Amino acid sequence: MAATPRQLWLAQGRAVVPDDVVEPGLWDEIADEAERCEPYAAVRHNERPGLLAMRDGSITSPQRCRVHTGGPALSALAMSKGLAEVAGEATGQRRMTPIRFGLKYYRGGDYMHVHRDDGKCAITFSCGLTAGLGAMGWLPRLRWLTTQQVCDRFAATPFPEGGEPFPIRHRVLSGFDGSRIPHWRTPLDVQSREVLITICFTDLSV
Ligand SMILES: [Fe+2]
Repeated sequence: MAATPRQLWLAQGRAVVPDDVVEPGLWDEIADEAERCEPYAAVRHNERPGLLAMRDGSITSPQRCRVHTGGPALSALAMSKGLAEVAGEATGQRRMTPIRFGLKYYRGGDYMHVHRDDGKCAITFSCGLTAGLGAMGWLPRLRWLTTQQVCDRFAATPFPEGGEPFPIRHRVLSGFDGSRIPHWRTPLDVQSREVLITICFTDLSV
């Protein structure tokens, strides 16, 4: 018997998003919006070396890309009823709300060292708006390490060996336990412009 969304989440820290969660046509609207937003994207270039443990359990580390919060089309995606249902089924939390979402623009050489997401992110969804993003690296078996254990382990290893690929699919969202599972993006090795979407949910009723 196939695993339920809850079982998959508990066992592997990830969630599958059915295709029909997103209205046809919305991806093209988001792509147009991403083009309009790009000139106003903020450069995110944190060069402080090493991993910084935050009080909420997240871990920040160096990264380079450009970011924008998007507009109505991206908001519509984040507010999709079906996406909140996937978030709720996977995490077992009832009233899931998208609290943070955005567009990340990657050019050749842009990267994200190993980190853990904001502690408020009960589930993080991600996908490529463009087709050229390779897989993310992640270490799902280290999900239950403490923040300090992760920092000690990877202080000198921005892109850990032995990681597993987490596919970033083109216009198909996938959920993962980003606030617990260490994950990263190695430098984009193509001279192109790629756009990553991230949406994070939390349960505001607790
Ligand atoms: Fe992340």
